Amino acid sequence: MSRLSHPSSIETLAPFRRSRECHTAVPADIEGEVPGWLRGEVVRTCPAVFDAAGWHAQHWFDGLGMVYAFRIGEAGVHFQSRLLESEAARDAWQGKARLGSFGTPTARPLWQRLVEPVPRITDNNNVNITRIGPDLVAMTEGNRQLIIDDATLAAEGPLRYANDALHGAIMTAHPHLDTPRNTVVNVATSFGMHGTISVYEHAPSARRREVIGAWQTAHVPYVHTFGLTPDSAILVAHPYAVKTAKMLWSSKGYIDHFDWHPEQGTRLVVIDRATGAVREHVTDPFFAFHTVNAFERGDETVLDLLAYPDAGIVADLRVERMLARLPDLRPALLRITMRQGVERASSEKLGDLGFEFPSTNYRRVNGRPYRYAYGAANWPEADHTYNSALVKVDLETGKSSAFRDEPYVFGEPLFVARPHGEGEDDGVLLSVGSARDDESSVLAVVDAASMTALARATVPSAIPLGFHGSFVH
Ligand SMILES: [Fe+2]
Repeated sequence: MSRLSHPSSIETLAPFRRSRECHTAVPADIEGEVPGWLRGEVVRTCPAVFDAAGWHAQHWFDGLGMVYAFRIGEAGVHFQSRLLESEAARDAWQGKARLGSFGTPTARPLWQRLVEPVPRITDNNNVNITRIGPDLVAMTEGNRQLIIDDATLAAEGPLRYANDALHGAIMTAHPHLDTPRNTVVNVATSFGMHGTISVYEHAPSARRREVIGAWQTAHVPYVHTFGLTPDSAILVAHPYAVKTAKMLWSSKGYIDHFDWHPEQGTRLVVIDRATGAVREHVTDPFFAFHTVNAFERGDETVLDLLAYPDAGIVADLRVERMLARLPDLRPALLRITMRQGVERASSEKLGDLGFEFPSTNYRRVNGRPYRYAYGAANWPEADHTYNSALVKVDLETGKSSAFRDEPYVFGEPLFVARPHGEGEDDGVLLSVGSARDDESSVLAVVDAASMTALARATVPSAIPLGFHGSFVH
């Protein structure tokens, strides 16, 4: 079907359409066979509401969150969804925009801007959901993660960390779990005269964050993810950065204070997890949301990430721009190699295609040399629809393979290893696809070794393309 005229609201545009919430679980129609060993839940979050009473999200990242789950059990697959209850959502439905968000201006009276020069940060946790110890936690780039009730998907309230040195700092929505050490590792940014980017760790069930290393900078980069090896945490300080003072008394969205300075190159900041020692490297400028993996190799630290030539993608994800042209979500897979004692890092393109929303056989390979990376590639067609594929890149051969299911636009594939599986790709990819032409969605169960479908669980509910989530056993 051709859609040459542009829609006026992103909520009417596939794959960003949204059906009504589904508080009571509904069964999915299953085609094919779900492996008997695959039991658990895919829990994800996505931006879903872009227009409320007079409030309008100006950036994809600012759509009000929706939480949803596909529950895979003996009785089949069941689907459930719920809009995220947050202060940001309550505000939006009253036409207010008091909280600082990613790319949508705040509307605060002058007196409030004077007494509170920087707005409180949004709790619209629409980027990721992951289990942290006993809690299922929804997160965005903010300081108020929300605990989600597993059964109802309702927000139970903020995850309360101890009143530690990172109080108020912005945490990424991509914490790592260092499985061998049973430690959560994440990065937090605090703004003062300078910016401080801290790496912290805590046991999954503990709520006191211990800073293990920090890097101070006058030009604070936008930090979305970081690399983790047993020895190091690696920050990607691309030259898309802000001077703290620019954010004072401003009503602009957070990211709208950032400028692109390609002449500075991209810095890689390697923080030693044992000593906190910091070493810096530099390479040609690029912009990245997502790291894929990192590992140590002799005196080298290797970081694989998905690189865009510049930060233009951030503006391409503005709602107004997406209505005119869908963004091309196919950054290049780059391998950055950093040798101790050598400031210049080398960079090499891996694989033969670009993709976003990366994943790996995480528990097995994160922080170690690995062979397979997976992701979703979405790219615009002339008729304003998306072409979409799940991809697998073999880093040894540089060759890739793809899975496509024409009616659907796919998001992040989650790798689930087959219990006692042998090969690194012995498992399945679980990915949610949003239908191009009707209000349905699919959970595809794809054999990761052959990249062929094992099963499709279809639900009569439009799920907007979103970002991240987890498979919870
Ligand atoms: Fe992300």
